[in-house]
Amino acid sequence: DAGDDAELRTPIVAVLGHVDHGKTSLLDEIRGSAVTAGEAGAITQHIGATAVPLSTISEIAGSLVDPTDFDLPGLLFIDTPGHHSFSTLRSRGGALADIAILVVDVNDGFQPQTHEAIDILKRTQTPFIVAANKIDTVPGWNPNPDTPVQETLEKQSDRAESRLNEQLYEIIGQLSDEGFSADMYWRVQNFRENIGVVPVSAETGEGIPDLLTVLMGLSQRYLKAEMSIDVDGPGVGTVLEVKDERGFGTTLDTVLYDGTIRADDTIVVGGKNEPIVTDVRALLQPRPLSEIRTEKQFEQVDAVRAAAGVKIAAPDLDDAMAGAPVRVVRDRNLEEVVAEVRAE
Ligand code: GTP
Ligand code: MG
Repeated sequence: DAGDDAELRTPIVAVLGHVDHGKTSLLDEIRGSAVTAGEAGAITQHIGATAVPLSTISEIAGSLVDPTDFDLPGLLFIDTPGHHSFSTLRSRGGALADIAILVVDVNDGFQPQTHEAIDILKRTQTPFIVAANKIDTVPGWNPNPDTPVQETLEKQSDRAESRLNEQLYEIIGQLSDEGFSADMYWRVQNFRENIGVVPVSAETGEGIPDLLTVLMGLSQRYLKAEMSIDVDGPGVGTVLEVKDERGFGTTLDTVLYDGTIRADDTIVVGGKNEPIVTDVRALLQPRPLSEIRTEKQFEQVDAVRAAAGVKIAAPDLDDAMAGAPVRVVRDRNLEEVVAEVRAE
């Protein structure tokens, strides 16, 4: 019932894959924005976070989902860089994830950072699906914007369809070499035992309804127990970036993955030498569907509940570091929280 719904934590979905395989573009398509276009050198260099509400997911997924099947509030997407030099950021993104999308360009198949991403997912035991991206580049492809993939497949020539199938079976073979049994998502019954492959195009939106439907199904089915934890407990998060924000001084772009943070909380943050103990001055929340990395119109709020991206303004943050833990003290023992942050 509606009373219980509010208690479920938003699942965190990490988007991982080789450079240029289309991670940010896929998120742009879901957000209806264009973060990719604004990226320096066109590669992602930081971890991002975007909250996608259930209403948007149902709208995009259309006839494929029945929104009353879901009581999760939405999904928090974590964008990661695919360039080889950012392996720390990929591990950090993987560590935050409840589930993941491994993005593979159908033309390129598995590449070094695809394998690296798989290693991270194995290590963190994160369930994932594969988005086989750029299906619109198959020679002779007849694009049907925003349609479910089986619908657009029916409208392709035999030649285009069999070319795509070759590429998809190549990816399924590569997953099998990595020890995973995989198949087209519509043939998968148990997404924890078998990896579902979802053919998509970030360019035309084909397959995006399917991608969101599979993600919601996977979250709802396999993560609900993990999501019904203490969402009102003291918040726990990870710093994505330490940034100056006009009028607020040094701030922390943070992914809150557990509990709640309030505007009157004391927090402990990992610092260059010692944990920093400080009082929250302001909590700035990005709007739904906006990327925290590029958001300009944060809303100042009294509290933020996991999982969410939040910019934390507080005094004494100059020695805070990206990747550092953030923990809310509230009614806990301060020394104990400091010890936890020091140990992380
Ligand atoms: P990094 O963050 O640097 O790892 O790259 P990325 O995986 O985020 O890739 P990005 O979204 O920046 O896309 C790379 C290039 O591929 C861009 O020029 C996109 O426009 C293009 N691209 C992404 N998805 C598609 C697609 O589905 N079809 C076509 N034709 N082009 C795509
Ligand atoms: Mg990117």
